[in-house]
Amino acid sequence: MASLKNFFAWCKRHYLLVTFLGVLFIVVFGFVNIQILHMTSEPEFCHMCHPAQGFGPLAEVDSWEHSAHGEAGVSCLDCHGRPGVVGYIKAKLGGLKDTYMQLTISKEEKLKILQNPKEDLVPDQQCLFCHSDEGNQSYRKKVRLMKIVRMRLLDDVKNPEFRMHKGLPDILTDTFVGGTHFDHAMHREAFDFKCRDCHFGLVHNPSTKTDRMNMCVACHKENEDSEAPQVAECQRCHEAQYDMNKGIGAKDVAGEPGLMWGNGIGCQDCHTGVAKGVYRPTSETCSNCHDESYKEIFNDWASETKAEIADLRELRITVEDALKDADKKKRDTKAHWERYEKALYNFRLVRNDGTNGVHNHDYAQAILASVKKDFNAILNALEQSW
Ligand code: HEC
Ligand code: HEC
Ligand code: HEC
Ligand code: HEC
Ligand code: HEC
Ligand code: HEC
Ligand code: HEC
Ligand code: HEC
Repeated sequence: MASLKNFFAWCKRHYLLVTFLGVLFIVVFGFVNIQILHMTSEPEFCHMCHPAQGFGPLAEVDSWEHSAHGEAGVSCLDCHGRPGVVGYIKAKLGGLKDTYMQLTISKEEKLKILQNPKEDLVPDQQCLFCHSDEGNQSYRKKVRLMKIVRMRLLDDVKNPEFRMHKGLPDILTDTFVGGTHFDHAMHREAFDFKCRDCHFGLVHNPSTKTDRMNMCVACHKENEDSEAPQVAECQRCHEAQYDMNKGIGAKDVAGEPGLMWGNGIGCQDCHTGVAKGVYRPTSETCSNCHDESYKEIFNDWASETKAEIADLRELRITVEDALKDADKKKRDTKAHWERYEKALYNFRLVRNDGTNGVHNHDYAQAILASVKKDFNAILNALEQSW
């Protein structure tokens, strides 16, 4: 007892030092804790127990790494954890449960759980938080204190800025999405769809575009008496591909119809397998009308455009970072952001067409050249102005 008393007396005499040590302790302890929270949120950590390659159960980290979300820096807890502090903490508690289960259940039981994810494992609200303005703003109003933890992309997502900077549409109001003419709001309202009903291959599971198209046309066939487009009406759904063939659609870039489209060749003259359910043609289709050497032209067109798209993808990230940096320094970037968003729109048109410019090589080339020019002009302007 006496020693404790002595200790307090000592503290009283050296209260400045004690306060200092106390604060230091809290800061260091807090820092270590945050580092632990941070570390255990990283995909590398998840990989310890979700280690397989490819798609499906146990391969969640690998499949994520190769997904569009992975490439865009949308990480595990951006989807598997509600926004805000409480959401973050709940997700971390879920992680504790994972660890406990790992130690207590058999391999077979674990696989069974992963094969049958709960229906609301990632609720639609989570997706709408990033992919619509309404879903983002209403959630932000409900959940204050968004900003206490800043260890995820998610908590910084504020729409419309976030999706505009990524070049994404508002899926509840826009009908030109991913290159397709599709009205999310109408289909959701009429049929009570969940996101996963159509985006079943999102992130972790394999799926083909053919599976997705079949889903649309099967239901539309049942609704033949309505406005629903039937299989042969390609261009009513495939807006980006239709535009590319016609040489229109990009902002501030003049174009001509594609070589074939301009000479009266229609979609199904190249897409000859549609009646058999084979929608995607190969270079073989060129030799239906031209000699064999035209397969090489196809390959040249595609590889040239593909390489340019890859380069521009890197350049886009540099430009976005430079713009954000300039914003932090409170510089006037409004006009630059507008130019960036226009360029991104054009870039996505070529990407969403999905053929690496085969539908209209010259137009695709002209668009990508203008995108490159826009991106470089922004970088130059940011370097020059102070
Ligand atoms: C120590 C091993 C371990 C680590 C590390 C781990 N998990 Fe898991 N995870 C499991 C096990 C075991 C299950 C199945 C049992 C369960 O539902 O908890 C599981 C299940 C899941 C589920 C499905 C839950 C459900 O209810 O269907 C998700 C989502 C998940 N993990 C995400 C993650 C994420 C994200 C990380 C990294 C931040 C991670 N896990 C790290 C072992 C782990
Ligand atoms: C863009 C959102 C998104 C991201 C990012 C994401 N997931 Fe998922 N995850 C989902 C969805 C949606 C499901 C439900 C799958 C279904 O409905 O079939 C899911 C399911 C799972 C499951 C349950 C088992 C399974 O295979 O379906 C695990 C485990 C999991 N994710 C782990 C992870 C890990 C680990 C990461 C990061 C490396 C991650 N997820 C990143 C959306 C995401
Ligand atoms: C943290 C924000 C965020 C969340 C949460 C999120 N996404 Fe995304 N999503 C993005 C970004 C960013 C991209 C852009 C990727 C690109 O094109 O560069 C994207 C791309 C997409 C795409 C087009 C690319 C593809 O993989 O087909 C679809 C579809 C999509 N998201 C659906 C969903 C669904 C469904 C959910 C919910 C399970 C979801 N997203 C959750 C940010 C998010
Ligand atoms: C009835 C089917 C269907 C449902 C349900 C559905 N989508 Fe889509 N979604 C599509 C189609 C078709 C496209 C365009 C083609 C593509 O990229 O796959 C698309 C594209 C997208 C894109 C890409 C936008 C772009 O321009 O890159 C996002 C993001 C998206 N959907 C999010 C969602 C979210 C979030 C939900 C749930 C609230 C949802 N979708 C529900 C069919 C659907
Ligand atoms: C469960 C049934 C069902 C599914 C699945 C479905 N649709 Fe529809 N869709 C309809 C119906 C019914 C209409 C007609 C509505 C009307 O007459 O106003 C329609 C109308 C449309 C239209 C024309 C209306 C407009 O906005 O211009 C387009 C385009 C369309 N759907 C695209 C798609 C795509 C793409 C998919 C697949 C991702 C899809 N639909 C999946 C039932 C469906
Ligand atoms: C009702 C809308 C609709 C109609 C009509 C339609 N498609 Fe599709 N198609 C889709 C959707 C949705 C996808 C999937 C797109 C995605 O996921 O990016 C798709 C995918 C495709 C693919 C990619 C297939 C793959 O597996 O790679 C091709 C090629 C294609 N469509 C060609 C056509 C052609 C040619 C026609 C006309 C004969 C046509 N489509 C009519 C909605 C439609
Ligand atoms: C000159 C021949 C030709 C014409 C004309 C043509 N296509 Fe294609 N299309 C192709 C080839 C070849 C591919 C496959 C490219 C590849 O795999 O790299 C393709 C791919 C596609 C895809 C798949 C894109 C993706 O996202 O993967 C769609 C959708 C499509 N075409 C729709 C259309 C539509 C709609 C029309 C008419 C407006 C049309 N095509 C006209 C040759 C043609
Ligand atoms: C249905 C028939 C048809 C198909 C399939 C087709 N073309 Fe053509 N192509 C034409 C016609 C018609 C012209 C214009 C008349 C001409 O100049 O020969 C043309 C013109 C061209 C030209 C410019 C003139 C020349 O001969 O150099 C090129 C290059 C070309 N096509 C490449 C391709 C490639 C690559 C494919 C495969 C993706 C393809 N075509 C598929 C019919 C077709």
